[in-house]
Amino acid sequence: MDWKIKTADKGLNGQLSVPADKSISHRSVMLGSICRGECAISNFLFSGDCLSTLGAFRALGADISTHGDTVTIKGRGLRGLKAPAGELDLGNSGTTMRIISGILAGQPFQTVLTGDESLSKRPMDRVMEPLSMMGAEIEPLEGGEHAPFRITGRVPLKAIEYKTPMASAQVKSCVLAAGLYAEGRTSVTEPFQSRDHTERMMEYFCADISRKGLTTEIRGLDELVPRDLVIPGDISSASFFIVGALIVEGSRLVIRNVGMNPTRTGIVDVLKRMGADLKVLDVNKEIEPAGDIEVRSSSLKGTVVEEREIPLLIDEIPILALAAARAQGDTLIKGTGELKVKETDRVRSVTENLSRLGISIEEKEDSLVIHGRSGANISAAELDSFGDHRIAMSCAIAGLVSDGECLIRNTSCADISYPNFLRDLQTLAG
Ligand code: S3P
Repeated sequence: MDWKIKTADKGLNGQLSVPADKSISHRSVMLGSICRGECAISNFLFSGDCLSTLGAFRALGADISTHGDTVTIKGRGLRGLKAPAGELDLGNSGTTMRIISGILAGQPFQTVLTGDESLSKRPMDRVMEPLSMMGAEIEPLEGGEHAPFRITGRVPLKAIEYKTPMASAQVKSCVLAAGLYAEGRTSVTEPFQSRDHTERMMEYFCADISRKGLTTEIRGLDELVPRDLVIPGDISSASFFIVGALIVEGSRLVIRNVGMNPTRTGIVDVLKRMGADLKVLDVNKEIEPAGDIEVRSSSLKGTVVEEREIPLLIDEIPILALAAARAQGDTLIKGTGELKVKETDRVRSVTENLSRLGISIEEKEDSLVIHGRSGANISAAELDSFGDHRIAMSCAIAGLVSDGECLIRNTSCADISYPNFLRDLQTLAG
């Protein structure tokens, strides 16, 4: 599918509730399935990636039913999963593949994990290493350090003290999941704080987990206790409209019930630093806090994004790069290495699309520099998502400030995280 996106003359206006958080939706199915007993998860995200997680846990024997936006899981207990009848195809979902590997490492059976073309190119050595140290056997079936691979679990796993080489919530969560099945205390230390949804949900499900600075410790246990939860909106999905409203003149948007976990709000901090007229209102005190965001068109200025901030806005960098292109002055984004191993090499796909729009952007060894020009025209162009959902949606927002109509190729991938993105955009753009 392709999208045609024209200049938005009237701004983005109105109210919106974005879809549920993808990271929390994944974790709710994974941890819900290994609790003993039933939990109801409301406002679940039925997007491509989360359906991959649902399918995988059904194949592992969890009893999962859906009614409206609620998923009810009858968990089989920590040691109640069964060997799947065939390979588990995880589609495009890196989060599923990396975190499920930690659970499968502790099972008394073998599982083969596969994925689509993009997922089969993404590095999996980052989870293979700690899981092998814990005693699981992991065998890539086509060589290299990629999917497809076979996991042969070990019961029990060995506890380890692991330092992740990169700030990755997926790797941290994988080791913590395996730690549930290990004898004694497993610890993970990361170089910078990454999103902590796994830690929060494990605490909520009564795991023996504690945190000190950048180290999280978990003790192997007998059972997790299921409890109901409500998933807030995804700040990563909200970011497309936040930046859209900031850069399209005459905009005023209110986005309701957006997840405000402080390990995810880097985009809000950076945009405010750039001069955004953005208010966060009525943040609640839930296990995963949420609030409303009010945003108006603003004059932005360039900024420096430090390496330690990257994990707090890792998925927002494509749309942040567009905000930077519309800001006055240069924006330097440091520590871009992890961006190269996402659904696409996002340094490449952002640079390619922004260049087609006539924006000056320089790719350096471990950073990106965007030479912003507020008020300057963006030339309408043919853009390409390269099959990456966040690139597709960032390109659509760029189309709103172009001097004509942008054709965006390969946009069906938006379903991976935001199935109704185009409908919501059309509504807000009138
Ligand atoms: C995710 C963590 C991030 C992020 C991904 C979702 C998660 O990946 O890019 O979209 O749910 O844990 P890394 O932790 O590998 O950076």
